[in-house]
Amino acid sequence: MDDFSTFLASRRSTRDFLPEPVPMEMIEQIIEDGLTAPSWSNTRPFVVAIATGEVRDRLSEEFLRRWNAVKDFRGSGIFRKIGSIFRRYGFPTSNWLVVKKYHKDLLPRSRKIGKDLYAHMEIEREDKEARDGFWARNYEFFGAPVELFLFTHKSLGKFAASDAGLFMQNLILSAHSKGLGTCPQGAVAVWEDAVREEFEISKNYSLLCGICVGYPSQDSINEFGANRIPPSEIIPPLKR
Ligand SMILES: Cc1cc2nc3c(=O)[nH]c(=O)nc-3n(C[C@H](O)[C@H](O)[C@H](O)COP(=O)(O)O)c2cc1C
Repeated sequence: MDDFSTFLASRRSTRDFLPEPVPMEMIEQIIEDGLTAPSWSNTRPFVVAIATGEVRDRLSEEFLRRWNAVKDFRGSGIFRKIGSIFRRYGFPTSNWLVVKKYHKDLLPRSRKIGKDLYAHMEIEREDKEARDGFWARNYEFFGAPVELFLFTHKSLGKFAASDAGLFMQNLILSAHSKGLGTCPQGAVAVWEDAVREEFEISKNYSLLCGICVGYPSQDSINEFGANRIPPSEIIPPLKR
């Protein structure tokens, strides 16, 4: 049991990868391991699209184009802004929640991870260009050769998201046990239409997030350890 706790604690999100490809049998194995997770009435209400090679590169290029359009929009004057609003290129086509401000219950935790991560990378809070540059790395999948896109069945709402989360965690831990790194990516969930251009996916499913997979590099970003809150923070007190 202690070994298992140590194993769990040793997993961290990977944000810089080697270009070395991951064998398809390994990707299939981590997906198979993902499917050993519990599921609502065993329905497995999700699909996982695998982007490698040209598909991965095309999606990364399209995401980067859209991200650049977002940056141009932010820095442009009123007339160009109006034009952009009509074109809508780069605007989220799905999951606006990703770009919404956090609720005050959660904001301090989200601020802390941002502050700690940028401090680790020696990026100043005011250095918008460096922060944007780091965010853009999401759209390069942090250099990972594999990007998985996880879609959930719309009919089951949060239960489908819960099942997909269980699947994702098993998959992530399986990858970790094989020396692979992963990073779940809400950042890619805003442009579902681009992913649909590449894969045959039923309209009954919607994009939850991406997960990049590959071999971690030695970059210091991969030494970052996100803080852990104590269990007491998530256990409500008894009423009496
Ligand atoms: C659904 C989900 C979406 C995430 N999206 C992103 C993302 O877009 N970019 C990123 O760098 N990290 C993303 N993360 C990683 C979290 O920031 C990370 O899990 C958290 O800070 C805890 O760090 P750890 O995974 O290293 O333990 C995401 C995690 C989850 C579960």
